[in-house]
Amino acid sequence: MKLKPVKYLRGELAVPGDKSISHRGVMFGSLAKGTTEIHNFLEGADCLSTIACFRSMGIEISQESDFVRVCGKGLHGLSAPSEPLYCGNSGTTMRLLSGILAPQPFETVLTGDASIQKRPMRRVIEPLSRMGADIQSVNGNDCAPLHICGRPLAGIACHSRVASAQVKSAILLAGLYADGETVVTEPQRSRNHTELMLKHFGADIRSEGTRVTIAPSPELFGSRIIVPGDISSAVYFIAAGLILPGSEILIKNVGINPTRAGLLEVCEKMGAHIQLLNPSHNTAEPTADLLVSSCSLKAAVIEGDIIPTMIDELPTVALMACFAEGTTVIRDAAELKVKESNRIAIMTENLRAMGADVTETEDGMIIHGGRPLHGAMINTHNDHRIAMTFAIAALAAEGETELLDADCVRISYPGFYDDLDRLSVVL
Ligand code: S3P
Repeated sequence: MKLKPVKYLRGELAVPGDKSISHRGVMFGSLAKGTTEIHNFLEGADCLSTIACFRSMGIEISQESDFVRVCGKGLHGLSAPSEPLYCGNSGTTMRLLSGILAPQPFETVLTGDASIQKRPMRRVIEPLSRMGADIQSVNGNDCAPLHICGRPLAGIACHSRVASAQVKSAILLAGLYADGETVVTEPQRSRNHTELMLKHFGADIRSEGTRVTIAPSPELFGSRIIVPGDISSAVYFIAAGLILPGSEILIKNVGINPTRAGLLEVCEKMGAHIQLLNPSHNTAEPTADLLVSSCSLKAAVIEGDIIPTMIDELPTVALMACFAEGTTVIRDAAELKVKESNRIAIMTENLRAMGADVTETEDGMIIHGGRPLHGAMINTHNDHRIAMTFAIAALAAEGETELLDADCVRISYPGFYDDLDRLSVVL
């Protein structure tokens, strides 16, 4: 796909439903008794992979005109799939499913695309095995495919070395079926959508700081869920709105759960003033409309506890830093190396190709802002967040940019280029 610079972005949009919450709605709805209705469900490829997996285990899921209906069969209602479960590109599907499948009375294989077969699974294999699970990496490399032979599990107390909501959620979901309480602690607090939704579905779960405790549940109960707009999709329009002079964008109904909204704090630190209008709640999740206007950005140091609250937004913040005055340092973000691509290496390589002054570090990037960007050939490595970040970079660069495999945005934001086009005012 070829992209040309634009003058600015103007107008109003509603970004698609949150990916993390959409996945959980399908998963927990399948494990609950009764019907779950998921409104504003994200029809992205990752969440469709989750739907396909649960359909293969006997759950009836229908896509109605304005919601998804999941006819849950209770905690013990899944049936053995006849084929390996294909998780596509989705880490959330694979890791949360490992926790759900470990205690089931059947065998399964979890597999997915080339990217997911390279991502680390030891982080779920190890704690689930401590609970008594029989879960093996088929190729012995701690990656997918994973072979899971369901077994009764024991409740444990475990500390995850990484702040990862996928790891935490896998353990908590296995804990629903364990013979006693399960406690998970993590170095920093990761997103808490699992805790909020499981509580909403009737689970006995409580959080204190970085520690979450779950008791085995007799049953979960289906419910109506309204999914907020995804802040990880809003970030592309926030970045465009901030760096293209003359822009003004109203992004409606965005999820601003504090465990996800580190981006807003960092924008403030970089000198941007994003107004939060109409604060509200969708199910258990806080939301607001975000009013973004262009401004001059300044550099910031981004590190520590805030990193897990904006991990998926960091590539786009690295782009914003190219337009900021001074040197931005991103550190404590080694997790970026094990996402859909190595996002530290790929961001550095592509930003440099566009003329930016960026250095890759072990756990982040150092970005000297202020150098103008020029168009380039961008290899997205089929990573949706890289593609969307460079689509925004292209709007603010001089000359033409070519994005390879640009359609990978279907993973989390199928209508991305249409929304971008609609808001763009051309030069
Ligand atoms: C997610 C958690 C994060 C995030 C991913 C979605 C989730 O991953 O990067 O896009 O839905 O729980 P980690 O748990 O690996 O940090």
